[in-house]
Amino acid sequence: MSSNIFCIGELLIDMVCVDNKGLKNGEKFEKKAGGAPANVAACISKLEGNAYFLGQVGNDFFGKHLIELLKDLNINIEMVVEKGSTTIALVGIDENGERNFDFLRGSDGDYSFGNINLSKIISSDIIHFGSATGFLEGELKKTYFKLLEYAKANNIYVSFDPNYRDALITPDKLELFIEDCIEFLRKSDFTKLSDEELFLITKEKDITKGVNKLHEFGVKFIAITLGSKGTYLSVSGENTVIQSIKIKQLDSTGAGDAFVGAVLKQVADVEDKQNISFEEWKNIIAFANKVGAITCTNYGAIESMPALSYIRKLHN
Ligand code: RIB
Repeated sequence: MSSNIFCIGELLIDMVCVDNKGLKNGEKFEKKAGGAPANVAACISKLEGNAYFLGQVGNDFFGKHLIELLKDLNINIEMVVEKGSTTIALVGIDENGERNFDFLRGSDGDYSFGNINLSKIISSDIIHFGSATGFLEGELKKTYFKLLEYAKANNIYVSFDPNYRDALITPDKLELFIEDCIEFLRKSDFTKLSDEELFLITKEKDITKGVNKLHEFGVKFIAITLGSKGTYLSVSGENTVIQSIKIKQLDSTGAGDAFVGAVLKQVADVEDKQNISFEEWKNIIAFANKVGAITCTNYGAIESMPALSYIRKLHN
């Protein structure tokens, strides 16, 4: 049976600028659901896995819309809190489909550890942390560290994605963000970083050097997403690049989250999660690359993620 996957962090409204003129000049915005950890949960559910979302939305129209959407996606929301105002991300997309963000932060940072029903999380489960807003000052950050401690004490499989957003991490907060990331990276069983995040955290300018530095910090499993070039995988002393599929990119928002969701859904199906062979990992990553790439072919994160039935059809 597939394990449960608990995704903690922000669930928010992405106001996506769909005329590809960027945030400064764009005029047409569409309301989409977003937030990196919520996107991961959505991908897991679309691939028919068991996802829980842990976090806080506002007690407002946007919050109600987001909760309904998660319910429709069959994501467990029993630990979601509705209070304050919903966080909004402004998503600009350039002519190549690459995105950048700005944020109007609401109450997602108020989610406290007491809202988590720990009796629901067992040692065969998975917890995924994404730290776009998770390491900003506030209650949510404390919750992240307590939940990580709980996961380690109970041998729960931990996944982590730094989800670095320059609009949220001011230069004076960057070193602390890096420190927090390193602590989570070291304690995680699966980690996924973009090449930009790898260079930022390790202060290296080369993938191999950066990956080696992460291993020196004590990071066991490293997947570096390289966009259209695929994913660099480094685990148990073996390294390789797994190619992706060719697509016409419209909007890359949520591609990394879809990749993580697709990896975690497959890991959830494995009984002995700590002993997945390198060969098995290569297959897991190849499938996740495909899911991430398909997510780039339309606007918005969640609605562009493929359902399992769609991917199966691609193979027939
Ligand atoms: O990873 C994509 C997400 O990052 C978007 O949905 C947006 O909310 C940003 O935080």
